Amino acid sequence: MRAAEIASGALRRSKAKAARAPPAPAAAKKPASPGGANGAGGDAGAAAPHDSSEVTAAAALAAAAAAAPDSFSGGGARILEGLAASGLRSIRYALELDGVARVDANDLDPAVVETMRSNIEFNGGAAEAKVQTFNDDARLIMLKSHQVYDAIDLDPYGTPAHLLDSAVQAVSEGGLLMVTATDMAVLCGNSGERARPPSSLAASTWAHAAAAPHGCGAPAGSTGAAAEFRVPRSAARARLHGVPRRWVCWTKYGSYPIHRPYCHESAVRILLACIEQHANRYKRYITPILSLSIDFYVRVFVRIHTSAGTVKRSASKLAYVYQSQGCDSWVLQRVGEVDTRGGGVKYTPAHGPAVPQQCPETGARYLMGGPLWAEPIHDQAFVSGLIAKMDAEKDHYAQHARIKGLLTSVTEELPDVPLYYSLHDVCKTVHCTAPKAQIFRSAIINAG
Ligand SMILES: C[S@@+](CC[C@H](N)C(=O)[O-])C[C@H]1O[C@@H](n2cnc3c(N)ncnc32)[C@H](O)[C@@H]1O
Repeated sequence: MRAAEIASGALRRSKAKAARAPPAPAAAKKPASPGGANGAGGDAGAAAPHDSSEVTAAAALAAAAAAAPDSFSGGGARILEGLAASGLRSIRYALELDGVARVDANDLDPAVVETMRSNIEFNGGAAEAKVQTFNDDARLIMLKSHQVYDAIDLDPYGTPAHLLDSAVQAVSEGGLLMVTATDMAVLCGNSGERARPPSSLAASTWAHAAAAPHGCGAPAGSTGAAAEFRVPRSAARARLHGVPRRWVCWTKYGSYPIHRPYCHESAVRILLACIEQHANRYKRYITPILSLSIDFYVRVFVRIHTSAGTVKRSASKLAYVYQSQGCDSWVLQRVGEVDTRGGGVKYTPAHGPAVPQQCPETGARYLMGGPLWAEPIHDQAFVSGLIAKMDAEKDHYAQHARIKGLLTSVTEELPDVPLYYSLHDVCKTVHCTAPKAQIFRSAIINAG
């Protein structure tokens, strides 16, 4: 069965089978759902019924779509929702997807698992027959389940980074890993921190220093000692507004983010690169089928395969990004190269440098970000097939227009061109008024 066909089964929402939550909201903890109303990344808030589940079915879409076709078409697929909270999403997987044999719904919090159990019971025998609850650390479950799950869904608060190593080992051959990350400030490189006052300075003095309009850190009325507290203007500003903590992204994801207009796309690509590198440790690699940045989170759907040969190419799928600090221009530099000269295949480090020491346009230095995933982030055939199937079953989707809009914008992306320029920012750089996007697009199309 084609992936898209399986996917449509995932999205279809039969009235008879749709998962429900008890009328009195049970105490599932979910203060901030990672799934916005238009996103594929989260589910309805805790135990309360919520129609964003239509779009979260877009999560289910990928579950069904990308998981190992054999297991799904044979009706024997096994799914793990590692951080299940209310269990609502697991119940939906069990009730609304064809081909699911069993869903393991796990959460670390015992109180949450109790709620999950009552939600499953409330949804009746079909849910009870398929959804098993667990109260454990998702990492332990995954580590003990070598290539067991046809689909794993990880939807943590904040970063999924600590879960990835065990997850890539627990997905079956060709199976699906679905990961949400809500720590966008980290992934986009805009997380700020307020510097603490040095212990030798009184907090009020520090505040004064930071607020000084011309970067002079001298407290009002101070004399000779002022020089000791003098700080550059930018530093004073940083102390007030926070400085980017790009090292956080490095420590969590092994990549440096660059805070530029393309940062949401690069957030997706950093997460993909991180999953790929974890997979590579076990001779496995990823094939992204759908990668989304929505509202305040990213959500990626990747297949996982095993091949020691393919893993050799991994470095050539990742790239560093050199970002000019004086303008918007940036250049990608692949980490590795595949050299096919002379008939054989060699996997080598890439040749550099990709840029001169200084930006030719502005003379500014470059910041080096990444590595990030530089290969396609969607399977376009899958997404197009999914849209066609959804159109054919339009009545089943309360949020059809929204999901279709999201997926259509995916199909309009160039598959092999990572990152992008903002027309507005480019016009600002060259001091001209930005043309209408429609006119600009048609100029590009007419230019071939
Ligand atoms: C954002 S919620 C999950 C929401 C859920 N996927 C949904 O759609 O409703 C995150 C949950 O992860 C649980 N959690 C955090 N760390 C965990 C871990 N290491 N293993 C299992 N569960 C964990 C928390 O107790 C919390 O209930």
